[in-house]
Amino acid sequence: MALYSEKVMDHFRNPRNVGVIEDADGVGEVGNAKCGDIMKIYLKIENDTIADVKFETFGCGSAIASSSMATEMIKGKPLSQALELTNKAVAEALDGLPAHKLHCSVLAEEAIKNAILDYYKRNGLPFDPSLEQACAHCEEE
Ligand code: FES
Repeated sequence: MALYSEKVMDHFRNPRNVGVIEDADGVGEVGNAKCGDIMKIYLKIENDTIADVKFETFGCGSAIASSSMATEMIKGKPLSQALELTNKAVAEALDGLPAHKLHCSVLAEEAIKNAILDYYKRNGLPFDPSLEQACAHCEEE
């Protein structure tokens, strides 16, 4: 069996939503200390919904494919739904990642959570404290 699924290869070769949103409402950046990869997510939020999302990923192919898939999965979705996106769901949507590459999809989940947290903080909105805890360990992985 090929190491990477067709979907991973597709999203790696033709990543969706690459770029920067200059006037983003929330920005999340996470890094993985071990592999050194960095992912940045930009969100445009309207009426508690993700109106637009873009990403920049300085990292491996799996991290790029995960960011691409994750942004597709949250675009147009309410924040509450975007917060529920798990790295497992991202990996499943990609038809799986090799075990030693699962951490790459974790970056996508955490970058999105971080960006939403940034939006809440910028606007002085209430948020679930567990969100901050979830983001605090991003840097440690
Ligand atoms: Fe680090 Fe993929 S190897 S994010």
